[in-house]
Amino acid sequence: MRGIILSGGSGTRLKPLTKITSKQLLPVYNRPMIYYPLDTLIKAGIKEILIIVAPERAGDYLNLLGSGKQFGVKFTYEIQDHPEGLAQAFLIGENFIDHEDVAMILGDNIFEDDFGEVIRNFKGGAKVFAKKVSDPERFGVVKFDENMKAVKIVEKPQEHLSDYAVTGLYVYDHRVVQIAKEVKPSARGELEIVDINNWYLEKGELEVEMIKGEWFDAGTFDSLLRVQNFAKEKLDDKMTI
Ligand code: G1P
Repeated sequence: MRGIILSGGSGTRLKPLTKITSKQLLPVYNRPMIYYPLDTLIKAGIKEILIIVAPERAGDYLNLLGSGKQFGVKFTYEIQDHPEGLAQAFLIGENFIDHEDVAMILGDNIFEDDFGEVIRNFKGGAKVFAKKVSDPERFGVVKFDENMKAVKIVEKPQEHLSDYAVTGLYVYDHRVVQIAKEVKPSARGELEIVDINNWYLEKGELEVEMIKGEWFDAGTFDSLLRVQNFAKEKLDDKMTI
């Protein structure tokens, strides 16, 4: 299994904090934000990790993270010239993924759960992780039928479909690269990961697993504030880096 941390973007919602640095390098208690998703991948046993960054911040990432040796893993870096959607990561990462399975995590997503077992037992298809939230309209949302079987995933729906948000960790088999190549830009001009997830779902190959622990998308001032305290109280002693 290969790992990708998507850490591009311009952090518009966190300006002026992100005027001179990347959102994913901002402090979350006593560590840079990206340490948390990085630790999630490392704890899951992933050793080869591609870090995708915005061009103007690439030097900062190299200075902070280096080769990966100090963490016992190997980093590869790629530039995302323009933030044109999460699915773009699989085009940028085509050579890196090669014919392996891949787990992608967003650089601003902070999880309490350990995904080691899930990732070790992955047998192909696709897997996403859902969490009940009070503000599902901020996220990709899973629509279920009456038997709680996932029937569709909708990105930031206007109407209420369910309370289950799709979190920013995605596991795919190598077909994801070819699927990403078929994705057309959405109305907001992005290659949406929801299209990839629905491709697998329509084939009956998408598994939606509920996560048990806390989860934060640290991309807004309020969630960033909340995750600071959570990191101090609950994550600090579980971190391996
Ligand atoms: C992205 C995805 C969304 C997902 C979220 C998780 O949204 O598009 O489906 O629920 O990450 O953090 P963004 O944070 O880029 O708006």
